[in-house]
Amino acid sequence: MADPGSAPAETDRAWIAVIRKMDETYAELVTQQVALEQKNAELEEAQTFIAGVMASMTDVLIACDLNGRIEQVNLAAERIFGAGGRSLTERRVEELLAPGTPTSFRDVLSAVERRERITDREFAFRTAEGDLPVSVNGAVRFDSRGRAVGIVLVGRPIGELRQAYSDLAAAHERLKQTQQQLVHSEKMASLGRLVAGVAHELNNPISFVYGNAHTLKRYAGRLTSYLDAVNSGVSGPALAKLQADLRIDATLANIAGTLDGMLEGAERVRDIVADLRRFSSDRRETREALDLAALVRSALDWVAKAQMPGIETRIDMAEGLTATGHSGHIHQVLMNLIQNAVDAMEDRPVRRLEIIGTGAGIGGEAAVLTIRDTGHGIAPDIASRIFDPFFTTKPVGKGTGLGLSISYRIVQEHGGTLEAGNHPDGGAVMTLTLPTAQGG
Ligand SMILES: Nc1ncnc2c1ncn2[C@@H]1O[C@H](COP(=O)(O)OP(=O)(O)OP(=O)(O)O)[C@@H](O)[C@H]1O
Ligand SMILES: [Mg+2]
Repeated sequence: MADPGSAPAETDRAWIAVIRKMDETYAELVTQQVALEQKNAELEEAQTFIAGVMASMTDVLIACDLNGRIEQVNLAAERIFGAGGRSLTERRVEELLAPGTPTSFRDVLSAVERRERITDREFAFRTAEGDLPVSVNGAVRFDSRGRAVGIVLVGRPIGELRQAYSDLAAAHERLKQTQQQLVHSEKMASLGRLVAGVAHELNNPISFVYGNAHTLKRYAGRLTSYLDAVNSGVSGPALAKLQADLRIDATLANIAGTLDGMLEGAERVRDIVADLRRFSSDRRETREALDLAALVRSALDWVAKAQMPGIETRIDMAEGLTATGHSGHIHQVLMNLIQNAVDAMEDRPVRRLEIIGTGAGIGGEAAVLTIRDTGHGIAPDIASRIFDPFFTTKPVGKGTGLGLSISYRIVQEHGGTLEAGNHPDGGAVMTLTLPTAQGG
């Protein structure tokens, strides 16, 4: 028989167990509720984000199911079709298309069946303002289990695209023109420098010829007077006196030297003109063995000496150093490099240009020229850009920034290299390597 006193105690325990269980369940419910609320908040945030993205899109976005029933559109679509989002979602994609649309919804479906993406397909949408051609991209939409459930179409009116393309083409055209102008002005600038150098070079021999011609004219005058006297019968002491007064003996002795001087001057002029012919760029000119020392000397004469008379120069070229190439182009490279050195030394107290040429490689396959100046050197922050076209640190009108980029290209076309650096004692050092005839 049960102890009658134990019944209430057992009932109490049972109650306590039930209440505990309820407490636990309640606590669990509260935790779940909190988690749910948090998920809801996250979901809302994600939805706001997606809605924000869709609203900010200028392209038209239409999401539909696989039957073409519209599920969602963005603001741009609403604007184009002149309807509120709700009324559009009650319609089908086919209804938005104009009768003659180049791509139909059936085309879209068959592309989807073939697992193809829809790219740049032209649609004609029927809008309040008439038919609107639109370039459309599309993709299949999958649900969380990976099943295809719909299609997302994104379109941009072709008029806008065409406008963007034509703007781009116009900008490109302007850029090309500017570039051509710059290349042209660089050519004119080099031509100007060349002309200044050549004029300077021609000036000496021409003054020489001019001076000697004057002397010859004086001599001719004296000889004519003397011969006139002889012809008119002057003789004896009177003729001897005239001969002394007119310094006929010295004149006769000097004529040959004066003529030699004129010839020398004329020959120098002829050489300069021949040089000019040789250096004028003829693209068809075949490559030849170049006398590097002669090219260096000529470039130095034409650029450095003409512009910077007080410049100290040192040329040290290995005996018989040659390179294979186009003389006009390599001359242009040397002129560009020397011009840069001259520019860098413009406001320097010491102006020294040192050009050293040596052979390199076991069989002398390459010729290496180093051109060192005592200018301001190349600052580390611009070192990586100096070969870029149009990069210049010089004021407008002084440099176009094409010198090094053109030179680099020329040297590259010759199978050589052009490198820039600084000397530990200051100033820039440019190193030009060119293949020699030995190197093939
Ligand atoms: N020897 C040098 N010493 C110091 N800086 C140099 C030297 N050579 C080139 N540079 C720097 O490299 C830049 C680019 O040179 P580049 O010859 O390409 O153009 P540019 O001389 O400015 O103009 P352009 O040659 O078209 O007249 C120069 O503006 C200069 O800052
Ligand atoms: Mg330059």
